Amino acid sequence: MADAFRRFRVIAKVPESAVITSFHLRPVDGGPLWQAQPGQYLTLRVPAAEGSALKTYSLSGDVQRDDFHRISVKREAAPAGSAVPDGVGSCWLHDHVQEGSEIEIAAPRGAFVLDKHCDRPVLLLAGGVGLTPLLAMAKVLARSKRRVWVFHACENGEVQALGGELKALAEGSEGRISLHVAHRMPTERDRAEQRYDSEGLIDKALLQSLLPLDDYQVYLCGPTPFMVAMYRLLRDLGVARDRIAYEFFGEARALEKLAEQPVTRSKAASRAPKAVAGLVHLTDPEARAVAERIVPLAEPTAPATEGGAPVVFARTGVTKPWGGEAKTLLELAEEAGLEPAFSCRSGICNTCRCTLVEGRVAYVEEPLETPPDGQVLICCARPEGRVVLEL
Ligand SMILES: Cc1cc2nc3c(=O)[nH]c(=O)nc-3n(C[C@H](O)[C@H](O)[C@H](O)COP(=O)(O)OP(=O)(O)OC[C@H]3O[C@@H](n4cnc5c(N)ncnc54)[C@H](O)[C@@H]3O)c2cc1C
Ligand code: FES
Repeated sequence: MADAFRRFRVIAKVPESAVITSFHLRPVDGGPLWQAQPGQYLTLRVPAAEGSALKTYSLSGDVQRDDFHRISVKREAAPAGSAVPDGVGSCWLHDHVQEGSEIEIAAPRGAFVLDKHCDRPVLLLAGGVGLTPLLAMAKVLARSKRRVWVFHACENGEVQALGGELKALAEGSEGRISLHVAHRMPTERDRAEQRYDSEGLIDKALLQSLLPLDDYQVYLCGPTPFMVAMYRLLRDLGVARDRIAYEFFGEARALEKLAEQPVTRSKAASRAPKAVAGLVHLTDPEARAVAERIVPLAEPTAPATEGGAPVVFARTGVTKPWGGEAKTLLELAEEAGLEPAFSCRSGICNTCRCTLVEGRVAYVEEPLETPPDGQVLICCARPEGRVVLEL
């Protein structure tokens, strides 16, 4: 759906740290900016080997006041010496997009937004570049009456981005916004210039020492290991599940389930407190392109039972009749106990794309871009008769 996209011109490209750069964007057609809620993201169409790819970036500026949209992007280079390619979208933005360049962008989306009807104190917990949607929230919260606590965990001051903006918000808030920056491995310069408030990981003792007992609304965003560690801490501190809103920058999963998995110790985190022993990086090793998986198809083991036409998940050998509560093939797969990858659940990000081996589907919600023949976005499709999916 080409008309879902508008062309935007990069009016400024601003390095924010050694790895993160902001892009300020204005519509080429001279029309108004899109209305957005703090926490939402833009979808960019970027060049890729197969023609183009869609990449999502949270709005990091003041969505109510700025006269441009801003995204802040971490360059996801391939690990040194590895044979894998550099990150498609982030490296294109960093290396090829300049001031004056034009980019095709679709309107703000996303349900990870500040609840404006709530007046509870707010806790914003950011890991690395996961700060972006939370910074947009903090900018709007700065004009409210709510008490706000911001924790930003990052590796060190070289990679930390947008810290000056957070600091300015806290300093201008007459004590309503408290900011805490934790550097996992501060540099000599960080130490000399006192560019952080605590060294190491955010742990239970740190949260307890800084946060008064209160009924917080929590917003959490960062790399998966960070989110899992923070979720465990928050639940341990008695924060109710429905008070914790979170967003993954890669494949989305249920944090509750991930947090239940046993903590695995790793060399890099060996000095970490037990509760966060699984936390290795504060950058995002989880974000990567959706790989095309070609796998041998298994014979379905379970015959179709009564109900609608059978949906065969060929790789796992599960068959489930269409119908019941499921509104999409993704929901049906989840009902069948499978855990397909997904992120947006609304036809934008392509994370759920899989091969349609047999049959036809219809879209219950039109995808932002129709997938190529033989592929299906299962988060927004339903079967038309019997289908076989490579899942
Ligand atoms: C809702 C949402 C909001 C987001 N907001 C932001 C934001 O504000 N800022 C931001 O920086 N990011 C954000 N992201 C993440 C962003 O969308 C991209 O996922 C990120 O930029 C990586 O995309 P890429 O195309 O650069 O890298 P990809 O091409 O997806 O690759 C990612 C990494 O995997 C490596 N890789 C590639 N192929 C392989 C392979 N075969 N094996 C192993 N490794 C491989 C690459 O070298 C790279 O390091 C957001 C994501 C979501 C879902
Ligand atoms: S989960 Fe994003 S397109 Fe399906």
